[in-house]
Amino acid sequence: MADQEITFENFNLVSGADYAARGYPHVLWSTLRREDPVSWYEQTDGGPSFWAVTKAEDIVTIGRQPELFLNGPRLVLDNSQESDAGFPKTLIQMDPPKHTDYRKLAAKRFTPGKLRRLHGDIESLAREIIDSLLAEGNEGECDFVEKVSAPLPIAVIAWLLGVPREDWRLLFDWTNRTIGANDPDFIGEGMTGQETALQAMGELFAYFTTLVADRKKNPQDDLVTFFAQMEVNGEPIPDVDVLTWCLIIVIAGNETTRNATSGGMLALVEHQAELRKLQQNLELLPHAVEEIVRWTSPIIHFCRTASEDTELRGRKITKGQHLALFYPSANRDEDVFEDPFEFRVDRHPNRHLAFGVGEHFCLGAHVARLELEFAYRYLLPRIDEIELAGPVERLHSALVGGVKKLPLRYKLKEA
Ligand code: HEM
Repeated sequence: MADQEITFENFNLVSGADYAARGYPHVLWSTLRREDPVSWYEQTDGGPSFWAVTKAEDIVTIGRQPELFLNGPRLVLDNSQESDAGFPKTLIQMDPPKHTDYRKLAAKRFTPGKLRRLHGDIESLAREIIDSLLAEGNEGECDFVEKVSAPLPIAVIAWLLGVPREDWRLLFDWTNRTIGANDPDFIGEGMTGQETALQAMGELFAYFTTLVADRKKNPQDDLVTFFAQMEVNGEPIPDVDVLTWCLIIVIAGNETTRNATSGGMLALVEHQAELRKLQQNLELLPHAVEEIVRWTSPIIHFCRTASEDTELRGRKITKGQHLALFYPSANRDEDVFEDPFEFRVDRHPNRHLAFGVGEHFCLGAHVARLELEFAYRYLLPRIDEIELAGPVERLHSALVGGVKKLPLRYKLKEA
């Protein structure tokens, strides 16, 4: 199947199974960008039909009109999932004016000054993880996801929230079962993907209910305390909103960064000249990180719903219709990027949209960049030789382009 040419007939743009089997359908997205950038995509196997939006300019136009293009009613289109019904509404599913108020609250904690203080902590978490890989000897094989890409974001998110170390593994399990709910490795026995995700979120809520109660009594310098003390117009925010803050940080911060880290390593393995260039010029790392995020574009799509009849690129969009914003397509847009299908560690400027745009621009973009930068900063100088040691396994998801296994064979230089 993997070698068969991808066509509109054999690949559904919102089927997790197709992404797991074939990876990103760049050939289809390129066709859409060229021939029908705002294209009506009729779903024939159950899920709702939608407008497929594939060019950067249109995604920017949509992102800048959050009252016209809503996040609230539905954020993800998946041909195996009827609706978002039953899922708790987090920051990312809110719309103005509530979203604007809530986002302002978080902005206090995510200011550049506050984040600068994080550098040292994120650096030591990254160092600890890379050191444990390097300690295994100068030659070997590993699953890079298990060794580096998965533990790093878990450690950073758990540490930011204030989750005790012995519970970090729980966060890993909850994100797998939420984002990978339809994946055969994570789906609950006898359950649908939706039931699997809801069960995981229930466990997460129960856990954080206890942690929030503790932090109300014993405040600490962590995000759980910060969320527990949030107020709007002098009134504490409802308890359920404190929990959804915890949920969005766990869910949004893990799988995305994990897949940028794995996908970035894969890109470097597949582009050895770029790897060498970066090893010889580590000061290129900030540019390389942006290129890795553009290249991997871990979020495949988010959905918007039109709040009234409107027009986009001459297409008539009717109130209530869905639009899927395909970020990986926008990040190969020939009108924005020179040679978009070339991976260049020194690409600059790099106006990618992998972190979104406008009202919902990724709150954790800076944290993600730091994680990626520190992971590579310590690992890359030590690599002498590196290659794939087996097939890459991908996640069953139309939301996150996940790498489940990245088997690598390596030789390291002496420290
Ligand atoms: C490479 C890693 C990451 C990628 C590619 C990514 C991507 C995105 C995208 C595309 C959005 C926009 C959603 C929309 O427009 O509807 C978003 C929002 C968000 N991200 Fe990230 N993200 C990453 C890492 C993180 C991290 C590490 C955190 C937390 C520390 C985080 C927290 C959030 C939150 C809270 C939102 C919602 C913002 C809002 O609705 O105002 N993300 N992210």
